[in-house]
Amino acid sequence: ETVEWDPEQAGKGEYDHFMLKEIHEQPTALSQALEGRIDTQNGRIALADFDPGTFADIDSVQFIACGTSYHAALYGSLALKQAGVESTALLANEYSVSAPPVDDDTLVVAVTQSGETADTLNALRRAEAEGAMTVTVTNVVGSTAAREADEALFIRAGPEIGVAATKTFSSQAVMLTLLGQRIAADRHGDPPADLDTLLPELAAMPDALDDLLAETDAEAIAERYHNSRSYFFIGRGLGFPVALEGALKFKEITYEHAEGFASGELKHGPLALVTPDTPVFAIFTGQEDEKTLKNAEEAQTRGAPVVAVCPEDHRAVDVADAHLEIPETDADLAGLLANVQLQLVSYYAADLLDRPIDKPRNLAKSVTVE
Ligand code: G6P
Repeated sequence: ETVEWDPEQAGKGEYDHFMLKEIHEQPTALSQALEGRIDTQNGRIALADFDPGTFADIDSVQFIACGTSYHAALYGSLALKQAGVESTALLANEYSVSAPPVDDDTLVVAVTQSGETADTLNALRRAEAEGAMTVTVTNVVGSTAAREADEALFIRAGPEIGVAATKTFSSQAVMLTLLGQRIAADRHGDPPADLDTLLPELAAMPDALDDLLAETDAEAIAERYHNSRSYFFIGRGLGFPVALEGALKFKEITYEHAEGFASGELKHGPLALVTPDTPVFAIFTGQEDEKTLKNAEEAQTRGAPVVAVCPEDHRAVDVADAHLEIPETDADLAGLLANVQLQLVSYYAADLLDRPIDKPRNLAKSVTVE
């Protein structure tokens, strides 16, 4: 007698899809990413992946990436700017026509889960040819990008099977936050001023994610809104890349129309699309939340239901039509918690719409053509 054994089904464990499994692996993924890399006792970034002073002469940083990794890059670039270092995030496939000047005091950071994306490798090679210092932030040890860059920083998220990137985004964004703090410290000779408050919150991220995953209302929200016409995601500052990522995830796996906007841009055009049939997910990270709330209310006045993604005692909860709760944390990290709630909404909406969640049509996990 033989027993049918489907290795793929076995790999999913108790979950129906790899995507849901990987969303739930995020507390572990972040613990692994942070292991030995932050020193909360002495209030410093350890990050022994790089020699002391590696980034001391760096004047500006360019992040290059595609897809979800680009959203992580945008997140890292904003965090670095806030730490006082000139930086920009660029789509790797636009790099050959839009790269700012590069010299040997420029650091180019290629952000790529697989380390094999053709567009990102091309941009990396171009930056190297022009004399920039290069770092790859990747999940795959031995990948082409890891081998070709001057330095590599591994995010240690473990294998990701679902085509839609989830845990690798969170791990990339956390590692880029850490790398940014390290670059700022090397540049300025001192740890950045707000590191004391950031480090304990970073260390607490795995627990915060556990709490979020244990109590999420994402399934109920998906149930309530999944028959809408379009889905909008708005955020400001570090909430902006999360809005973009929330919309990308939603369109990738539900096949529904979704768009992410900077909160303040809503009134400069997209508001024309807003109706009672277009829910607006508003992400609050603690950066000028009053303005984002006003932007959300402008959509609500036109009949759109507003889903506030914010902590429990936030003012937006009273205004919004629905609430996705995130634990209280530092403004540098709140967006990452919000993103996990949005991953779950996309997942449950796609499931209700009966989409092939782990293998969306027309998409590939790793794109090795230009
Ligand atoms: C593909 C995947 C995306 C991914 C992008 C960049 O398009 O479908 O999920 O974000 O490639 O991949 P990378 O491996 O460079 O992060």
